[in-house]
Amino acid sequence: MILPILHYPDKRLRTIAKDVDVFDESLVSLVDDMFETMYEAPGIGLAATQIDHHHRVIVIDISDNKSEPICLVNPTITDKYGEIESEEGCLSVPEYFELVKRYNSIEVKTKNQHGEDFEVKAEGMLSVCIQHEIDHLNGILFVDRLSKLKQSRLIKKTKKSAKQL
Ligand code: NI
Repeated sequence: MILPILHYPDKRLRTIAKDVDVFDESLVSLVDDMFETMYEAPGIGLAATQIDHHHRVIVIDISDNKSEPICLVNPTITDKYGEIESEEGCLSVPEYFELVKRYNSIEVKTKNQHGEDFEVKAEGMLSVCIQHEIDHLNGILFVDRLSKLKQSRLIKKTKKSAKQL
């Protein structure tokens, strides 16, 4: 099922998500819906926060052909190094792209949707994507990491497009 995605500046995007403590069929079904929603958008990552569900669940697939689905439940970054600056966008901030600085390499301890523990060592685009999605779970958007000037321009642009509807 394709779920509606919240758009900036919706305040629900500021909710801090809780850990998942029950691994059941409804979680598996949520993850299936999140993948379907992300692929349809199309996007390379989606956090549960963006579909107004406030548990720590992320889906990611940075491949070109939907061949590398990754689901992270209760992810924690355990190590981080280096720096990378890359252009980011977000399904919750449509048609807006800006350069953001992040850690180039990260190590993450996490579970999957079945409650199994695993670790991810990521660098480059995958690392950026995981950091971006974990930010969502903490109520943070990539635009929060931009200069105040860029943020105020974005707010003006958002207000303008809201009036055009
Ligand atoms: Ni996003």
